[in-house]
Amino acid sequence: MTDSRYEELKSQINFHNYRYHVLDAPIISDAEYDRLLDELKQIESARPEWITPDSPTQRAGAKPADKFEKIRHPKPILSLANAFGAEDARAWLERISKIDDRVEKAQFVVEPKIDGLSVVLHYRDGFFTQGATRGDGEVGEDITSNLKTIRAIPLKIPVAELEVTGYKLPRYLVLRGEAFIPIKDFETLNRKLEEAGEKTYLNPRNTAAGSLRQLDPALTSSRPLTLLVYQIVCHEGGEVPTSQWEILQYLKALGFPITDVAKRFDNLEAAIAYTETWNKGRDSLPYEADGMVIKLDDLKLADELGFVGKDPRGAVAFKFPAREVTTTLKEIGVAVGRTGVLTPYAILEPVEIGGVIVERATLHNFDFIAEKDIRAGDRVLVKRAGEVIPYIIAPVIDARTGKEKPCQPPSKCPACEQPVEHFEGEVAWYCVNAACPAQLVRNVEHFVSRGAMDIVGMGIEIVKKLIESEKISDVADIYTLTREDILDAITKKDRKTKSAPSGKNADNLLTAIIESKKQPLSRLIAALGIHGVGEVMAKDLSRAFGSLSALSQASADELQQIEGVGPNIAESIVDWFSRKANQNLLKKLSAAGVDPQMQKDEKKKEGALSGLTFVVTGTLPTLSRDDAKTFIESHGGKSTDSVSKKTSYLVLGENPGSKFEKAKSLGVKIIDEEGLKQLAQP
Ligand code: IVH
Repeated sequence: MTDSRYEELKSQINFHNYRYHVLDAPIISDAEYDRLLDELKQIESARPEWITPDSPTQRAGAKPADKFEKIRHPKPILSLANAFGAEDARAWLERISKIDDRVEKAQFVVEPKIDGLSVVLHYRDGFFTQGATRGDGEVGEDITSNLKTIRAIPLKIPVAELEVTGYKLPRYLVLRGEAFIPIKDFETLNRKLEEAGEKTYLNPRNTAAGSLRQLDPALTSSRPLTLLVYQIVCHEGGEVPTSQWEILQYLKALGFPITDVAKRFDNLEAAIAYTETWNKGRDSLPYEADGMVIKLDDLKLADELGFVGKDPRGAVAFKFPAREVTTTLKEIGVAVGRTGVLTPYAILEPVEIGGVIVERATLHNFDFIAEKDIRAGDRVLVKRAGEVIPYIIAPVIDARTGKEKPCQPPSKCPACEQPVEHFEGEVAWYCVNAACPAQLVRNVEHFVSRGAMDIVGMGIEIVKKLIESEKISDVADIYTLTREDILDAITKKDRKTKSAPSGKNADNLLTAIIESKKQPLSRLIAALGIHGVGEVMAKDLSRAFGSLSALSQASADELQQIEGVGPNIAESIVDWFSRKANQNLLKKLSAAGVDPQMQKDEKKKEGALSGLTFVVTGTLPTLSRDDAKTFIESHGGKSTDSVSKKTSYLVLGENPGSKFEKAKSLGVKIIDEEGLKQLAQP
């Protein structure tokens, strides 16, 4: 382990980070990136004194703060005057031409006006040292730890050489940019939350703002934030370009993300025409933009023009028309998601918003409807922004006639008519019927997956075909499939690719299906897709009950005797087995020969560590994490990831995380690797 390898790793990782998050053009795989990062972490855990602030490991890991400190900006962070249309923009030019006639020959830069959160970034000697929100323009909040988690922000300016940029890098450099969540990432985030039965976010802007104002940087880190920079607020001890266009190129050369939509024009009319093209094409922007900013390219001239209030005269925001309209909410519909989550949506009186006819809008969840008191028949304010699914902002209370109907969560699933379920602490309502047609593809996909029944070769396309041709209406039907059924599904699937249908593939799949009947009980429990029951818990349940029939008769109290099973999961298990549809499914599975009993190797190993629960934290001298786990389990102990009152011992290594603090505060006994080995001796 050498100092130079450490430096090399840091710059390699930072470079790949830049390729991925700034250029959007990675040149190594995620796995290779992770390997580099792992090596770096190993070095840092052995040599913590080497760690520098630009190490990629310093992006996360800052402790949660109690509050944000205030930061006075080195110069006021200004706002922008608005122009609503070409006439307004021309009037702006006329006004400033009267103040300075150089404006008549001026050039203009047009940039997108991203609807995010304005942030200020400070660099000293090339290192990112501080970051703040705009606040009131004079004083902002210190959100440095949160900004560090945004990978598009360089922790160290990777280029400092005069030859690359033509300018000597200032020792102190303050930049301004806009932090935001790209629309695609926002939709993905919401889809995942929805599938997990959690609250979804209302729109990308609020989510970005909320994420940056989290006191715990770990939360910020989990949000898909990024940023584009567009301004040098001030600089000392160096030099920077004096035109906006060159500033953008300069920032790009320094390794910062800048917009690729910006363009420079010789006259205002050309600049206006360009903003108009983006007004029409705004749906193709990857982020929400509420307009374009037209800026004088000559920054010295812009500066000399001064400002009116907080608005500089040298730039104007050319606003796009708002995409909010009111219409009537005719009815509230309910969709069943792949995971059984019931999501309400608004069926609207069709209305045009920015060239698109909108007939539906998301209502997020039933809590949202209750909070906003949205009723069927209401006039509602609807927004469509970019490619974000249109959403309801609020009902127009003043327009109520008294005939509007409040909305309650449905008592039955709209797809299968089975009673719905609500779990405490979760916002969603679920359909938990394993045979619900709306969830069938996903249920089958889960049932055959690797951690479950592991039926290799049963890909999603085949599953879809089998469902389409009504060969499968629940997971038990997998076991009555014939060779012809499978061949037919494979043939249909292959029609697209034109390759010859393969009887061999059908035979292999049929064998895999038959083989899967021998899977241990724990796999079948995991495969059923009971809410809250994953692979690890399935193993514990299998060990504790030994058969499906015993598990199906367990009471909530009995279930809660098992570690990790709280009242919610116990209730969810009891509920699952109490349903007729699920009982029928189990009968069908059993009739098809799928009724495993606990196998010997699933029985808990007995040993010196039996009955003890361990949590490992930090780097142990000889055992890796996995080795330590295997060691503990092979001696009859249990290894878990989080410290609780039930933890018997914390096994402490070098550079422990927060688990160490937690164990201390709970009074959990602490041992090292040697201590663990001694305990394990019979
Ligand atoms: S220039 C003197 N450029 O819009 C500089 N602002 O309504 C004034 N914004 O608070 C700002 N994209 O958060 C500028 N390319 C861009 C922008 C931009 C978004 C935001 C910024 C500002 C608001 C002004």
